This record gives sequence, C-alpha cells and structure tokens, in this order.
Amino acid sequence: MKILSVASEVFPLVKTGGLADVAGALPAALAKQGVSVITLMPGYPAVMKALEEFEVAYTSENLFGGAARLLWGKAKRLELFVLDAPHLYDRPGNPYLGPDGKDWPDNSRRFAALSLIAAEIGRGSVADFVPQIIHCHDWQAGLVPAYVRYGGGPKTVMTVHNLAFQGHFPASIFGTLGLPPRAFGIEGVEYFGGVGYLKAGLQCADAITTVSPTYAREILTVEDGMGLDGLLRVRSNVVHGIVNGIDTDIWNPANDANIMQSYTAKQLARREANKRAIEKRFGLETGDGLLYCIVSRLTLQKGMDLVAAALPRLIELGGRLAILGSGDAVLEGPLKEATVHYPGRVGVATTYDEPLSHLLQAGSDAILIPSRFEPCGLTQLYGLRYGCVPVVARVGGLADTIIDANDAAISAGVASGIQFAPVTQEALEHALERATTLYADKAAWASMQRAGMKADVSWTRSAARYADLYRSLLKAA
Ligand code: ADP
Ligand code: GLC
Repeated sequence: MKILSVASEVFPLVKTGGLADVAGALPAALAKQGVSVITLMPGYPAVMKALEEFEVAYTSENLFGGAARLLWGKAKRLELFVLDAPHLYDRPGNPYLGPDGKDWPDNSRRFAALSLIAAEIGRGSVADFVPQIIHCHDWQAGLVPAYVRYGGGPKTVMTVHNLAFQGHFPASIFGTLGLPPRAFGIEGVEYFGGVGYLKAGLQCADAITTVSPTYAREILTVEDGMGLDGLLRVRSNVVHGIVNGIDTDIWNPANDANIMQSYTAKQLARREANKRAIEKRFGLETGDGLLYCIVSRLTLQKGMDLVAAALPRLIELGGRLAILGSGDAVLEGPLKEATVHYPGRVGVATTYDEPLSHLLQAGSDAILIPSRFEPCGLTQLYGLRYGCVPVVARVGGLADTIIDANDAAISAGVASGIQFAPVTQEALEHALERATTLYADKAAWASMQRAGMKADVSWTRSAARYADLYRSLLKAA
C-alpha cells in the first residue's frame, strides 16, 4: 500500500509541536504494517539543508507566484517529497510566523501550494509513486481533499491534531486557489463567509481521524467543537479517534544521549543524577522532595495560567517546579516572577530545547499537564516512558493514556499517574495534594513509575489501526 502523508512540520527537521513528532515517527511504524509512506513537506531552509540526495520529480514555472520544484529524496532517515518553492518557504525562523510574531501574510498561498502539489501527486504526476491514499495533517494540508474532490485524485484522510488551528482566510483569497466557483459553498471550502482550510478538509475527506478517542467525542460537542462541531456531527460516522504513539528509540531512558544517567525500570535510583542535573540547570535547591516539571507551549490551552495560580500551594506542599516552555509573553510573565518570589523552588527556561526536554523527563518526579483541552498530548507519554509520573487534566488524550491512582488502581499496581477534573485551580491543587501524599509512600510512587514504564506507548497498535483504516477505504473504493 502506498500512502502520501502531507505535513507542514516533521521531526527532526522542523518542529513546533507534537504534529512534527507524529509525522516523523508514524511512517516507520506503518512500514512494519506493510504500508509505504512518503511525506510531502515544504522546503523550509532547514529541510533544504538536511536533504541528502534527491532527484527532481517535477517542476512548475509558476506555483502561486514563483517557480517551484518537487524534490524526492532522503533526510535523516525519512523519505520525503520536498516542495522547493523559495518564494513561499525560503525564510528564516518559525514556519508559520514572521519575525513580528504574526502569521506570514501569504500563509494562504504557502499552504494552498503544498496541498495542490499533494493532489497532483495523487493524480499521478510522479509516475514512480502514485499513492492510493493521501493522509493530510492539520489545516496546512486541509485543502488537499478539496483539490481532490474538484480535480480528481485518490481517497483522502484528514487528521485533526488540534481543532484550535483552522486556517481561516478572507473570501478574497478564494480566486487565487484555482478551484472552480462551485467550491465556494457550504459543501466545499466556504466557512463563515471566508475560506476554511481545515473545514475544507473535514468536509471533503473520505475519513476523518483525530489523535485520541476521547478528543474524537469531545469535538462533536458545542463546548469543544470550536465552531466545527456541527459539520463533525454530520460526518460523525467517518470520524475515528486513534491515539498517538511515540518513537521509543528516540525516547528511551536506557539509551538516551541527552540525559546525565541512563536507567531502566529496575534502576529507578539512577534517576537521581538527572534530578541533580536539573536542579543545577534551573537554579533549584538540592533535595529529595517532589520535583515537578513542565515541558510545554505556554498557552491557555495548556493551562499555564492555572499553574501560576496554583504555584503557592505547590510550594506550600514542599514541591519544586522546573518549567521549559515558550509562547505567550502574558503567561510567561507570572511564571518568571515566581522564580524571583520563590528562589530555589521555581526555575523557568523560556527556550525551545529538545535535549533539555529529555533531561526533565529523566530526572523530575512528575510532569504537570493541566490542559484545558488536549487532542492527544505527547509529553505524558514521554513521562510514562521515563518514569516521570504524569499529573494531568482528565481531557482528550490525557484521559485515554493515564490510569488515575485511585485505590483500586493502586492496589492492582496499574496506576500510572494522577488525573483531575474539572480543569480548575481548585482541582489542580487537589491533584498536587494527592501527588504529595503518594510521593511520601515510596512503594506506591515506585509502583506508579514502573506501571508507566511498562505501558506500551509505542506506535505499534495505533499504526495497525491506521493501516486498517486505509485498507477499509480502499476496499470501499
Ligand atoms: P502540542 O503539540 O499541543 O504542543 P504535544 O504534547 O503533543 O503538545 O507535543 C509537544 C511536543 O513539543 C513534545 O515533543 C514536547 O516535548 C515538545 N516541546 C514543547 N515545548 C518544548 C520546549 N520548550 N522545548 C523542547 N521541547 C518542547
Ligand atoms: C497537537 C495537539 C496535541 C497532540 C499533537 C500531535 O499539537 O495539541 O495534543 O499530541 O497535536 O497529535
């Protein structure tokens, strides 16, 4: 089976969040299911630099205002189609935002181009790789199913990693897309009077997936549907929730070059060296007490305002907190102030640092994830794998991947973390109290760490589910 995956970021080439991790790891897991995947991504500078050997599969003299080439090659173990269109992608910095922190003004063209080329590959423009299905990730690939519906092509799957990012543009861009006039309607790309890229994908794809079963249910509701719940309810018979896995080679505490001391579930005491390294790195006092970490975009989605609000209680309970995150300056402020207010107890690094994110998982006792909504979440899976106990809001993928330490789960030895609901300061503080009590019981805590490390967080089961979905689509065809 041949699949074209379309993603705007792919680890380890370009990453702003979990989408990159998924797009980077899923193809290798699918290969083991007999599915061969090539990923199409934009030719950002980092991608062009990493591309080792390639051939030119296709050229276009004018793709949304400039010349473009489709390159087929390998970079960091990944097989890629790279859309080399310098007028669209040859820019420094973030893939979506300009230096002023605002969306690139031509994002509608940048990602329409990506989607158009994907549809053309689907229609056979690269004779040596004609995919049977195009798998589209998030709004940046949302127009693919529309280009296929109105111009032909194979079956399409639209995966929602985060409904909060929809790619909504003014109606005036419609004329640039090269779609027939009838596509500007409720059955096509029209969305609240403008053009919705994710909406188009959800409307036109043959199947819709999202990254956990609970989020797949949540997005059908007015509260969590972000304006798209009506459409999703109409199409609910083709909506599937498939939980994310992680790359267990990159995230392996027994063999991780980013951490101070490697360890297995039988050597939990060895985590201490990593804890000491974190304390040093974040300017924290040394101690055996409960050390929490956060590795996150600093946004309201991730509940970072709740963390700031619950910090006094966390400190009162004897905890310490190391935060690695960047994002909203408004949310950053109070966390940075806390480092002054509670010296030695709170440390903040407002950078993006992949190696440091590994160290935090390897040495902290618990990872705090108080998200208001979370399609899947990957940091709790890394936490499980590293014996860093997740303390999470009971939403989306966090609800599906963590077993709460209630009495039954503790006595059965299967508890792997702490969940709280609703997502409020009060409930978060109660979770911190529960964590403190459990941490004091060394046997109970170690049992949670071991249960987490034993959990299968690999891609194996979920890759099989994607493969089943692909097969069922081809059968229906
Ligand atoms: P989201 O995609 O919503 O941001 P996920 O939990 O799915 O949330 O994925 C976030 C990914 O980004 C994880 O791999 C996490 O380790 C990583 N990450 C987030 N912030 C940072 C940071 N400041 N430094 C390094 N890695 C980070
Ligand atoms: C999104 C979601 C996150 C999910 C990731 C990968 O960024 O916010 O919950 O884990 O995509 O699917």
